[in-house]
Amino acid sequence: MSREPSEDTAPAVVTVTGAAGNIGYAALFRIASGAMLGPRRRIALRLLEIPAAVRAAEGVAMELADSAFELLDSVEVHDDPAKAFDGASFALLIGAKPRTQGMERADLLQANSGIFGPQGRALNEGAAEDVRVVVVGNPANTNALIALSHAPDIPPERFTALTRLDHNRALAQLAAKAAVPLAEVSRVSIWGNHSSTQYPDIFHARAGWLTGEQLAADRAWLAEEFVPAVAKRGAAIIDARGVSSAGSAASAAIDHLRDWALGRDFALSQSPTGSALSQSPTGWGDDWTSVALPSPGAYGVPEGLVSSFPARSVAGEWLIVEGLSINEFSRARIDASVAELVAERDAVRALGLV
Ligand SMILES: NC(=O)c1ccc[n+]([C@@H]2O[C@H](COP(=O)([O-])OP(=O)(O)OC[C@H]3O[C@@H](n4cnc5c(N)ncnc54)[C@H](O)[C@@H]3O)[C@@H](O)[C@H]2O)c1
Repeated sequence: MSREPSEDTAPAVVTVTGAAGNIGYAALFRIASGAMLGPRRRIALRLLEIPAAVRAAEGVAMELADSAFELLDSVEVHDDPAKAFDGASFALLIGAKPRTQGMERADLLQANSGIFGPQGRALNEGAAEDVRVVVVGNPANTNALIALSHAPDIPPERFTALTRLDHNRALAQLAAKAAVPLAEVSRVSIWGNHSSTQYPDIFHARAGWLTGEQLAADRAWLAEEFVPAVAKRGAAIIDARGVSSAGSAASAAIDHLRDWALGRDFALSQSPTGSALSQSPTGWGDDWTSVALPSPGAYGVPEGLVSSFPARSVAGEWLIVEGLSINEFSRARIDASVAELVAERDAVRALGLV
């Protein structure tokens, strides 16, 4: 890495790939307005697109200028990862190769390695020392694994994949089920892969006065309604909207990076209900969120797999919540999702991509 950590007074370089796409469009205006790094941090945006979409990204840059955001220092549009990631402290890797009809998993992984390998290398060469990366583009966990394996000088834990959207979906479903405000739902966990095998775990959750065990007592509802409703929510959105979730995905990516960089206490200080909840020095109290990060071998997840865990950001680092009991119902589902991650990792290894 060539650059020093960025100082708070300097604009934070935020690189967004797939900037002309749906999620990019939904994310950029909120980032520029301060939703991610707070109301005082100036922002230098770098938009990365493929050559065919550079013109569209320039249109987005024009709209960003027209929004007259006071925090927005500059906007650059690039089709070269080396330029786009130069000095980046935050990287949202959104652009990816979608699966097309008849495409095998190995073809999908190979196509995405052509994106995330070079982007990992470019981050390695030019990103700031404090760079934080969130991979949104699918298959997000394995794309993150590909990127980090091409960035040997960046600590692997700086590469994460987004499961905050799944976490937020689980919070919303549980709040509706328990008929309590969202702010009264906590301690939900997403485990495994950001795919239909993911496991949203409510055994440790709270919703109002209800404990996780009480919420999970109706096992048929849990297994046949709640878990699939969260895991297949993306398909339900496509079914209703005709295109995939974009506003909620952008919002989750912003939540993820904001909590990581600024801590939960910052988020709570900005929230209408938060100040009452902030009862610990870290702001998390006994709550947590979900993040896909390289496994240190926790909870039986093989070391190095990028898998989702319950986690809290403390002093700028994600810490996996330790010591949660995992019952048989949960174990089987975590293991199934982790097995899918192992198969993806083995496939990219066999192709020589990591
Ligand atoms: N992790 C999650 O929670 C989550 C949720 C929703 C969507 N997604 C995934 O996010 C990705 C983006 O979704 P979208 O709706 O914005 O898609 P989109 O098709 O609207 O936009 C993708 C953009 O990426 C660009 N792109 C492709 N290759 C690129 C490259 N090498 N460098 C830079 N840009 C590149 C494309 O030109 C396009 O503009 C998809 O892979 C989608 O499956 C993830």
